[in-house]
Amino acid sequence: MEDTEHIVAEAMAEAESAESSRALYEVKMKFLGRTGKVTALLKGMRDVAQELRPAFGKRINDLREKLETLFEDLEKKVKKRELQKKLSEEQIDVTMPGRRTAAGALHPITRTRDELIDIFAGMGFEVFEGPEIETEYYNFTALNTPADHPARDMQDTFYIRDGILLRTQTSAGQIRLMEKKKPPIKMLSPGRVYRADDDATHSPMFHQMEGLVVDKNVTLCDLQGMLDEFARKMFAETAKTRLRPSYFPFTEPSVEVDVSCSACGGKGCSLCKGTGWIEVLGAGMVNRRVLENCGIDSAEYGGFAFGMGIERIAMLKYGVRHIRAFFENDTRFLEQFKD
Ligand code: PHE
Repeated sequence: MEDTEHIVAEAMAEAESAESSRALYEVKMKFLGRTGKVTALLKGMRDVAQELRPAFGKRINDLREKLETLFEDLEKKVKKRELQKKLSEEQIDVTMPGRRTAAGALHPITRTRDELIDIFAGMGFEVFEGPEIETEYYNFTALNTPADHPARDMQDTFYIRDGILLRTQTSAGQIRLMEKKKPPIKMLSPGRVYRADDDATHSPMFHQMEGLVVDKNVTLCDLQGMLDEFARKMFAETAKTRLRPSYFPFTEPSVEVDVSCSACGGKGCSLCKGTGWIEVLGAGMVNRRVLENCGIDSAEYGGFAFGMGIERIAMLKYGVRHIRAFFENDTRFLEQFKD
């Protein structure tokens, strides 16, 4: 009987010094658990004289209840203390400035290329991409460019080895497509091209967008109609185009295409050097020889092609003066093209 007083005192002392809910639980088990001291007392009932058992049993039950309330109270206290500690340790200052994640944006050349693709895709053109490393055949010979043409010179073209070069024009893709696909053809071919050229408006690597249409009854008027549509969508609703005679070995007749100056609306300003027009691309009716080189009957089919510099279009559209701005990757420049 005396034991019970002892046990209460012992349990209280141990429980009160338990610092964590885990430690407290262990103390609780030590007394009330399956192998705990109180449980052991209950098991000891057997050795108690018959007449003393009821009193003994009651006493142990009281003891157990007492301890249970004790542990319950302490548990609450310990849990509360633990929560407060956690809250103060994990406190966050909601007034602190946030960390910004820098959002990227498309490069102006990529944007302009995508815009061009959108415009021409709307007119039924499909995108086809040729290789950047080309053979002399696709880049020049099949495009009716004679062996003594100045563009073939090492001064103008980067050769990798004899007969293999970095393409100087996306026109090379025209041949690759016409070899594979029978007319009607409506192809758009964007990509990098390379020329030994370097000044304010020329770069050794730049981008072109090629267009090719081959079908029956294709005329120069169809070409201008499509280019008018392109000029209106790309530059201004009021934009017009003008064709000037020119020469390319792979087109006949060939034209240089001007767009009315979007800065002055055609009146004449410093951008268009007072003429009201800006040269934007080369084009023409596909030379019969080029069609024949690809096994297309030039008596039945005709076509037109055009090729423009994407940098040039972007420079005109955004008023960029030096082509190098596109390749320096200065984020102060590039950030201006974010939406
Ligand atoms: N390939 C020509 C150039 O790079 C442009 C062009 C393409 C001209 C198609 C006519 C037809 O200058």
